[in-house]
Amino acid sequence: MKDGIRIDGRKPDELRPIKIEAGVLYRADGSCYLEWGGNKIMAAVYGPREAMPRHIQDPTKAIVNARYNMVPFSVEDRKRPGPDRRSVEISKVTSEALEGVIFTELFPRATIDVCIEVLDAEAGTRCAGITAAAVALADAGIPMRDLPVACAAGKVDGTVVLDLTSDEDKEGDADLPIAIAPRTEEILLMQMDGHMTPAEFDEAVELAIKGCREVSKLQREALMNKYKTFEVE
Ligand code: CDP
Repeated sequence: MKDGIRIDGRKPDELRPIKIEAGVLYRADGSCYLEWGGNKIMAAVYGPREAMPRHIQDPTKAIVNARYNMVPFSVEDRKRPGPDRRSVEISKVTSEALEGVIFTELFPRATIDVCIEVLDAEAGTRCAGITAAAVALADAGIPMRDLPVACAAGKVDGTVVLDLTSDEDKEGDADLPIAIAPRTEEILLMQMDGHMTPAEFDEAVELAIKGCREVSKLQREALMNKYKTFEVE
C-alpha cells in the first residue's frame, strides 16, 4: 500500500469489479454466473426435490446441501479434482449460511442442492460463491426471508481494507469473510484468518457489511435484468 492506494489501484474501501448474471443455465432450476475481480463462478440450484436416499430426509424441513468445488484449472498449480478439507469446510459453512434464510420448513423431506463451481480463483471465492448461490436460489424461486450476500474485509500493511486480492490475502495480516441477510444485518457467516485488534475487527466488520450492501444492489439488478429480458421475449 502506497499513499493510501493499494497495489491494484483501489482505495481501502473499494470493491473489485463485479458482474452478475442470473439464469444462465437451461437445465438447472436456478443459476447464476458471477465475476468478481479475478474470480469466475457458476452456481446452479436443483430442487426442492425429494431427498434420496430416504434415510437422509428430515420430516420437518428441507436439507440445504451446498457443494463448493474448484475445477482443476481454477488455480495456478492444477488442483487435484474432487473434494478436499478446504472445500468440505466451505461447503459446510455455505450450506449453513444459506439455510439461515431459506424457508426450509415449507419443504419437508426435500433437498435443495446448490452447486458452486469455481472456474477461476483469485481470493474471496467463498464470498463470491455464497453471493452467486443466493442469486441462483432466487432464480429457482426458492422462498427466502432475505437475499444473502457475502464480502470480506481484512488488514494489509496495518490498514483495514475491503475485498482482498490474492496477493493481499497472501501478504496481508488478516482476512475476515462475512455473509449477511441485508434486511436485518443478521450475520450468516463469519470467519477469520490472521490477527486484528478488537478495534480493527470492529472496523473490518463494518467495512465488510458496507461491501455486502454494495454487492446486494448488484444481485438485485441481476435478477431484475433477467425478468426484464423475459418480458420482452
Ligand atoms: O477463496 P477464499 O478467500 O474464500 O478462501 P481461501 O482459503 O482464503 O483461499 C484464498 C485463495 O487462495 C483462493 O481464492 C485461491 O485464489 C487461492 N487458492 C489456491 O490457489 N489453491 C488452492 N488449492 C486453494 C486456494
